[in-house]
Amino acid sequence: MTDLLEIDHASVHFGRSGALARMLGRGTAPVIAVDDVSLGVAAGTATGIVGESGSGKSTLMRSVMGLNQLASGEIRFRGRALARTRDLATRRAIQMVFQDPGTTLNPARTVGSVLEELLAVHRVVPASEVDARVGHLLDLVHLPASIRDARPKRLSGGQKQRVGIARALALEPDLLIADEATSALDVVVQASVLDLLAELRATTGVTLVCITHDLDLVRYVCDDAVVMRHGKVVEQGPVETVFATPSDPYTAELIAAAPTLVGASGEEPA
Ligand SMILES: Nc1ncnc2c1ncn2[C@@H]1O[C@H](COP(=O)(O)OP(=O)(O)OP(=O)(O)O)[C@@H](O)[C@H]1O
Ligand SMILES: [Mg+2]
Repeated sequence: MTDLLEIDHASVHFGRSGALARMLGRGTAPVIAVDDVSLGVAAGTATGIVGESGSGKSTLMRSVMGLNQLASGEIRFRGRALARTRDLATRRAIQMVFQDPGTTLNPARTVGSVLEELLAVHRVVPASEVDARVGHLLDLVHLPASIRDARPKRLSGGQKQRVGIARALALEPDLLIADEATSALDVVVQASVLDLLAELRATTGVTLVCITHDLDLVRYVCDDAVVMRHGKVVEQGPVETVFATPSDPYTAELIAAAPTLVGASGEEPA
């Protein structure tokens, strides 16, 4: 069976020809942000992408979204190469939630009106069902119905992130990419958003890709782990295998440096 998402020898380069590059005195050598990466994500699974800052995690997933162009290689979705310009159905099918939910929510709009508009514009459900669907979406992310009339200013960080997730889910994506979706939140709220992501996998069947610095998140939510370093994938496989017997020295270092639950043995502390 082909994977839902197949990344095939993908590379992304950023030119160094702009004003900043000139200021830094670096003329031409491009930054190779993603360097010949291949990986597959099977439908219904959850994959965690970890790796140090600047290792290319966001760039890789932004290229899946169509926000960064590939210098070489190919990305296939449901077995078909993703074109530079995408049809509406494909754009709907791949959704992303970002680290700082506040910045992507329009401060002037109520939560309800944002969701209603999305459902209507994309004709996700007939007009007569929009209202009920908004209620269902809020339920799905465990927000009270009263949130509907609230504007972002009144929401906590965790609530905003839930709205962000509801907005992504409104389009009934096959693939949900969460880029540091919990790292702006405090620890308790992080845990509740993690619970939510784990639960949504089960209830909606959505395929998840979580970019994170948090190895516990990967261990708790994901089936597969991908470790990136300097634009390359240095390790990938089932979470248990990657954490218990890392084959790459960098992964071993990463696990050793993780402060909490994830130990090299894969056991939680008693
Ligand atoms: N728009 C851009 N223009 C130029 N260089 C970029 C751009 N976006 C990313 N880069 C560079 O590409 C490399 C990979 O960055 P990326 O944001 O993908 O890393 P990351 O793994 O997501 O890091 P973090 O964990 O800090 O989010 C870095 O060297 C970064 O400086
Ligand atoms: Mg990033």
